[in-house]
Amino acid sequence: MKVLLIGATGNLGLRLVSALLTHNHSVVAYVRSSTKLESLLPASVYGQLTVIQGNAIDSVSIKTVILDSNCDAIVNTAGVAGVAPWAKSDLPAIFRAVMDGVRGAGEERGEPLRAWFLGGQGVLFYPGSEVMMSNYIPIYLEHRQNLRLLKALPPNTIDWSMLCPNTMVPESSSITVPTQSSHKVLIASAGTPPEWKDSWVKYIPLIGRPLVCAMNAGSGRYETTLEQNAEFIAGDLESVESRWSGVAVGVIDGAK
Ligand SMILES: NC(=O)c1ccc[n+]([C@@H]2O[C@H](COP(=O)([O-])OP(=O)(O)OC[C@H]3O[C@@H](n4cnc5c(N)ncnc54)[C@H](OP(=O)(O)O)[C@@H]3O)[C@@H](O)[C@H]2O)c1
Repeated sequence: MKVLLIGATGNLGLRLVSALLTHNHSVVAYVRSSTKLESLLPASVYGQLTVIQGNAIDSVSIKTVILDSNCDAIVNTAGVAGVAPWAKSDLPAIFRAVMDGVRGAGEERGEPLRAWFLGGQGVLFYPGSEVMMSNYIPIYLEHRQNLRLLKALPPNTIDWSMLCPNTMVPESSSITVPTQSSHKVLIASAGTPPEWKDSWVKYIPLIGRPLVCAMNAGSGRYETTLEQNAEFIAGDLESVESRWSGVAVGVIDGAK
């Protein structure tokens, strides 16, 4: 596929450059500074990219790039959610602009684009319920409104998925393009965190579920690597029809 990668200079974006190329996708990197991207990648990797400078809050530019470059899919990693409930970041504006650009391009082409967005574990449902985990631990709340926007889209406007990891850490700081991926595979599930450890503690009034969320999500069990998540998205984009279409996706390291 030809993939528009928005946010290629970021932690996850750089690993996506590598993973997408390893999976034989063509990559159009959309960044604020091509000089910055060039400084972060080996010349041999940078040379394999089409690089376009632009701002992710510019929906018209994103739509134009998708249509002019003939992209089949997009991955957006631009913008970072604020941690505290009262924190404000650029993410909501970026998210809306990217969504509008992708939707506009799909409508003009007459076919919705495949798109991966980033959320956080807090937008996943507490297993066995339809209550978001961020109701119990209210952090990174900006992801909630982003998911709401995606779910409110009319059918056949964007073929979207939202990857919702807990903390992602780097395996390595060097960005290479191996011919085959060697990262441990993630286990994923739609809507809830996979392999949840339930506990009788959840029955304690008021504090039960927050405690179980903290026991699961705060213990490091759901920590994954940037490379694993990049690999997950790049691999999914190889399939014609994704099993993750229209859902928020929780992940855990299969080896944990
Ligand atoms: N890291 C984690 O542990 C974690 C866990 C769960 C979810 N997430 C989510 O995953 C996403 C990616 O995280 P990350 O760690 O890769 O973030 P990051 O390293 O901070 O990267 C953010 C990227 O966004 C780009 N950006 C920001 N504003 C932009 C704009 N107006 N136009 C174009 N590009 C813009 C930055 O480009 P510049 O280089 O130009 O600044 C950078 O490439 C975020 O949405 C985050 O909330 C992260």
